[in-house]
Amino acid sequence: MDMDFPHKQFQIRVLSCRDALKALKHDVLEGIISAPRSLPPKYFYDETGSRLFDAICKTRHYYLTRTESALLEKHSDDIMAAVQPRACVELGAGSSLKTEFLLSRLVAGSQQATYVPIDVCEEVLIESAGRLLHRYPQLHIEALAGEYLAAIRELPNLEGPVLFVFIGSSIGNFSASESMELLSRVAGIMAPGDAILLGVDRVKNKEVLEQAYDDDEGITAQFNLNVLNVLNTRLQGNFRLENFSHRAVYHETKEQIEMYLVAKQDQRVALEGLGESLQIQAGEAILTEISRKYTRTSIQRLLAGSGLAEHSHFVADDEYFSLVLAQAQE
Ligand code: AVJ
Repeated sequence: MDMDFPHKQFQIRVLSCRDALKALKHDVLEGIISAPRSLPPKYFYDETGSRLFDAICKTRHYYLTRTESALLEKHSDDIMAAVQPRACVELGAGSSLKTEFLLSRLVAGSQQATYVPIDVCEEVLIESAGRLLHRYPQLHIEALAGEYLAAIRELPNLEGPVLFVFIGSSIGNFSASESMELLSRVAGIMAPGDAILLGVDRVKNKEVLEQAYDDDEGITAQFNLNVLNVLNTRLQGNFRLENFSHRAVYHETKEQIEMYLVAKQDQRVALEGLGESLQIQAGEAILTEISRKYTRTSIQRLLAGSGLAEHSHFVADDEYFSLVLAQAQE
């Protein structure tokens, strides 16, 4: 489906509208009807969820955004000089705030610069395109609203070199095998000269990690609980948000944060749109997100398992976060 938008330098394509509800129903049936309960994190990002995520990024405890921004500010010149891209394709672009460090250099280096932001949240793509075109009037934006794999299949023809951008620790939401599968797909469509910039969060002190996912303003808690609103709206459910509490735990051997919604009391929840209801016991937890943390070794393992070779690696002084520039293996 193509959407009309009164700007010749902005196009947005919304992928797989038709199957989205079917997929949600499938995921909910698989995920939360019976224990152990879990939901895929992509459902966080309705318009409210995307705004809450941006608010998380500004909290004192969520060090990820400011650490990665500082790395981008410091190293964008080197990154862009190494790749000299004519297009950037970003997976999980969100509001593209940090990406501006790269985009400002992209438009400076190419007359016909194209940016392809991919995100599940259409509203955020439209809003950020307005901001970006105001700042970079020469930029061409071809947004794709949809999931990573679907969007990768639907990429427009681009003049290379292409810089794929997968920053913000978004890869952390995927298990080891899923991450390699996704990155292998990207590696598979990379032409010689293309590159990928990967932003990954690093293993660190448990307290620092757990606070990053349970900020003292309670925004992460709101973000987590909002997924129940998403289910209520899309599946005519009657989850009561006040009956759940937010919990974030760092699992040291799995090297991942796990976010849960824990039932405060016994309750029955109906999901009319699904024709199902579920009985939840006090203390029962729904796993809503994993956020994997990396070491130098596990980064190397991820790249090797995805057919990627490291070109350069930029690390924050405190080793809290890594930016890795990689190319497809010959
Ligand atoms: C958008 C997946 C990178 O895992 O840090 C932030 C999402 N969840 N706080 C992350 C998130 C809770 C975030 N990612």
